[in-house]
Amino acid sequence: MPDARPAAVVVLAAGEGTRMRSATAKVLHPLGGRSMLGHVVAAARALDPVHLLVVVGHGREQVTAALAELDPAATPVVQAEQRGTGHAVRTALDGLELDGTVVVVPGDAPLLTADTFRALLDSHARAAAATTVLTAELPDATGYGRVVRDSSGAVTAIVEHKDADDGVRRIREINTSVYAFDAAHLRDALGKLGTDNAQGEEYLTDVVALHRSAGLAVAAHVVPDAPEAMGVNDRVQLAEAARVLRDRINDRHMRAGVAILDPATTWIDADVELEADATVLQNTQLKGTTVVRRNAVVGPDTTLTSTEVGEGAKVTRSTADGAVIGAGATVGPYTYLRPGTRLGKGSKAGAYVEIKASDIGEGSKVPHLSYVGDATVGARSNIGAATVVVNYDGVNKHRTVIGDDVRIGSDTMLVAPVEIGDGAYTAAGSVITEDVPAGALGVGRARQRNVEGWVERKRSNQGEKSP
Ligand code: UD1
Ligand code: CA
Repeated sequence: MPDARPAAVVVLAAGEGTRMRSATAKVLHPLGGRSMLGHVVAAARALDPVHLLVVVGHGREQVTAALAELDPAATPVVQAEQRGTGHAVRTALDGLELDGTVVVVPGDAPLLTADTFRALLDSHARAAAATTVLTAELPDATGYGRVVRDSSGAVTAIVEHKDADDGVRRIREINTSVYAFDAAHLRDALGKLGTDNAQGEEYLTDVVALHRSAGLAVAAHVVPDAPEAMGVNDRVQLAEAARVLRDRINDRHMRAGVAILDPATTWIDADVELEADATVLQNTQLKGTTVVRRNAVVGPDTTLTSTEVGEGAKVTRSTADGAVIGAGATVGPYTYLRPGTRLGKGSKAGAYVEIKASDIGEGSKVPHLSYVGDATVGARSNIGAATVVVNYDGVNKHRTVIGDDVRIGSDTMLVAPVEIGDGAYTAAGSVITEDVPAGALGVGRARQRNVEGWVERKRSNQGEKSP
């Protein structure tokens, strides 16, 4: 077996992607929590190539910046004018001394997996081929380059849809635009590409016929799962690819022991981690680097972004971003947890509650209609309904510290910075502007007075009848 490590993977991402009709470069459009380029670069990186080259052109500032985040070790190569896929590869390899295998991958095929690339490399090595093309059988091959074979079944050429006659257009085997090439033979062929075709471009696909007529071995590897090869050229195809990816991700989790009750309405990003015996209910989106631990139940109607849900926790009809939800905690319905929220073990954030940058201690509860921001709450404390932590004075944010075993009365305004000692209470309806020591009751409200007979007097002044 030759060295399995490719000398280079070249990702083609310079095209304009006109059909997306977008100010965002085509390869930066997202599905499954990553850009198309993110998916392709991750699969390419898994092959551990010596060089990972990304050809950029249209929107190159955007694409180069995104690439630096995705994979700082990848090299962007600028193709100033898009003169075709062959020209793109020629530009990428210019000045590189390569020996071994070069893999080419289009930036707009986000569903291709590293396993498929490895299978292609195996076929390529076994056939000792100069070129091995990854092909797929599609029910509707419109728009794709067709794979032309001779009577013995050997690949003789790839013909672009626009250049094809009716006979060729009937072929359903298409070029996926993924190839393994012998580096030296590729370089030779790239020097000979013409532009005498419907698009006036240097087609990479012409390498096939060039190698074939030079008597070199050309092989094809058919991808068993055809939708994987799908190229995305417009937003309709992007949505279709997103659905395929969604099903693939959901299937992977279900086979690993996660209960997903309605896979069609469950959207889980590629980097989300779910433990066996976690349950995800309908209409739920798990994004970013969300983690859901075993026996936790998330959903229905819940969106979690880069949030950790502890073992046995329950999150119902809620939104959380950058939160940590402790084991056995309950959240929802209609709860909004913002970045920096940490809910302790067995704690509760109830209906219509918003929490930001706050620690809620073990067993503590914020059950109803409250806002808690920039606060630390100890263990076993209860925050009464409609409490507001007044953390913002219009210029600065201030912290509030609430101890263990505290009872904050309903409708308390805690005007930060303020500290409530262990075991302290606040009276319902209080505006607390000063610290409350441990064990004390803080009262900060006007005293009630009752005006006897007021209603009767008012009515007779207005000439009304008593009831
Ligand atoms: C290409 C193939 C076609 C194949 C299809 C699979 C050619 C000539 N045709 O057609 O056989 O069935 O992909 O989806 O190769 N790009 C550059 N620089 C350029 C031109 C293109 O980087 O100068 C990039 C594009 O950004 C894209 C990829 O190459 O990521 C493919 O180009 P695109 O124009 O989409 O080719 P297709 O017409 O789809
Ligand atoms: Ca394409």
